[in-house]
Amino acid sequence: MDGGGGRLKRNVLELLPLLLLLLAPTASCKSTIEPCSGSDSCNAMVGYTLPTDLKVSEVAIRFQVDPVSLITANAIDLSYPDIENHILPSQVFLKIPITCACVNGIRRASSIVYHVRPSDTLTSIAGSVFGSLVTADQLRDANSISDPDLIDVGQPLVVPLPCACFNSSDNGLPAVYLSYVVVVGDTLSAVAARYATTVTDLMAVNAMGSPLVKPGDILAIPLPACASGFPRFSSDAGLIVANGSYSITAGHCVQCSCGPGNLNLYCTPSPLAVSCSSMQCKNSNLMLGNVTVQPTSAGCNVSSCSYDGFVNGTIITILSTSLQPQCPGAHLFPSLIPPPSALAISSLSPTPSPSQSSVPSTIPKSSTGGGSLTLPGLLSPAGGPTGSTSDAFYLTSNLPCFLTAIVTSVVLKIL
Ligand SMILES: *[C@@H]1O[C@H](CO)[C@@H](O)[C@H](O)[C@H]1NC(C)=O
Ligand SMILES: *[C@@H]1O[C@H](CO)[C@@H](O)[C@H](O)[C@H]1NC(C)=O
Ligand SMILES: *[C@@H]1O[C@H](CO)[C@@H](O)[C@H](O)[C@H]1NC(C)=O
Ligand SMILES: *[C@@H]1O[C@H](CO)[C@@H](O)[C@H](O)[C@H]1NC(C)=O
Ligand SMILES: *[C@@H]1O[C@H](CO)[C@@H](O)[C@H](O)[C@H]1NC(C)=O
Repeated sequence: MDGGGGRLKRNVLELLPLLLLLLAPTASCKSTIEPCSGSDSCNAMVGYTLPTDLKVSEVAIRFQVDPVSLITANAIDLSYPDIENHILPSQVFLKIPITCACVNGIRRASSIVYHVRPSDTLTSIAGSVFGSLVTADQLRDANSISDPDLIDVGQPLVVPLPCACFNSSDNGLPAVYLSYVVVVGDTLSAVAARYATTVTDLMAVNAMGSPLVKPGDILAIPLPACASGFPRFSSDAGLIVANGSYSITAGHCVQCSCGPGNLNLYCTPSPLAVSCSSMQCKNSNLMLGNVTVQPTSAGCNVSSCSYDGFVNGTIITILSTSLQPQCPGAHLFPSLIPPPSALAISSLSPTPSPSQSSVPSTIPKSSTGGGSLTLPGLLSPAGGPTGSTSDAFYLTSNLPCFLTAIVTSVVLKIL
């Protein structure tokens, strides 16, 4: 084409290393690395800010999660009509439940595969598609790409998302770890306050030497949670549910929730239960989740029928009886929110609204069969060596993220 364009291109190209160099001291991003060994995995979450309007099902496909688990992890009302096709507006923040595996000695999600689309670059996939949860370099390494300019449309790319297990506990209490990408305006204390934790705890978990964070840094944030004690041979062993949310398990037959009153996992038949094995406790007329109380002179005789895992397609129940000083009141469920819509973008914070009575009672149209997708949570409880918070290191990634990524993409657009 004309010489002017070529010259501009060359000038920009010559400037590129300089731009990167100038930005390097401020733009290198840190993320928390948890060493691991063995093949155990855990339930974890990544925080994702929608880059564009997306249907619930599109977000689910992007992260290869069951749409139902995506909805319930965010305490969104499953009974909302046609929920899977609901369009979530750009900039909504979602917690995406993922399975955190151990890949080459560090914690990573290993099962997310993205198929390259026309005009994608590794930089745009990292930044625009996956919200800077991954870097172009990590995509390149994970897929052994020698020339990042040569990726083919349709080519499958493994997307190694950051995640943490830390034995699913924090300070000895059950916790689910959320991988959170720091955004402009965040401070560590603001992030700590938003997630009801402390600067000290975040610094310890992330092995940080200083409380300073920069946009693009990725923090592991412990969310208080309800742990299950299912036997390790159950397919949902290790299930853990963050305070204020829900999880569907046992082939969509059982719904477990956590909070708000206490951090004891509470499971009931799911509103999606269609053809499920029996959910009645043996030798009793109690169903999963039923609790009966009988005041006696010695205290309150409490009998409950609870869930104990999914084994070979069978829902395992346990009937237990205990004498307690006081009879428990009616169970409170975490508040459900309607799916965020364009008019209420900031609505993903818990709102004090419908709870118990609004627990979904209708069956959403099942699309791509959440049924065939596996729910996260399939791991044996800590058996092998597990990380503890002191094992983490907060690493400066060798190359760009965020700011450099933005500059690079601007420069590439000029080209
Ligand atoms: C892992 O957590 C369990 C309970 O959550 C605890 O009993 C165990 O000691 C922890 N293991 C390590 C290595 O921290
Ligand atoms: C769980 O969440 C509720 C609000 O939904 C909150 O009141 C409670 O303090 C939380 N519990 C913990 C241990 O963070
Ligand atoms: C027992 O649990 C079932 C299923 O959740 C529910 O429909 C029923 O109302 C409960 N019964 C009692 C007595 O709590
Ligand atoms: C408590 O209730 C259960 C079932 O209702 C009953 O079998 C048991 O005998 C009762 N225990 C006491 C101490 O009353
Ligand atoms: C599940 O079923 C298979 C074959 O039906 C059996 O070999 C296995 O022991 C069962 N597992 C459990 C935990 O019961």
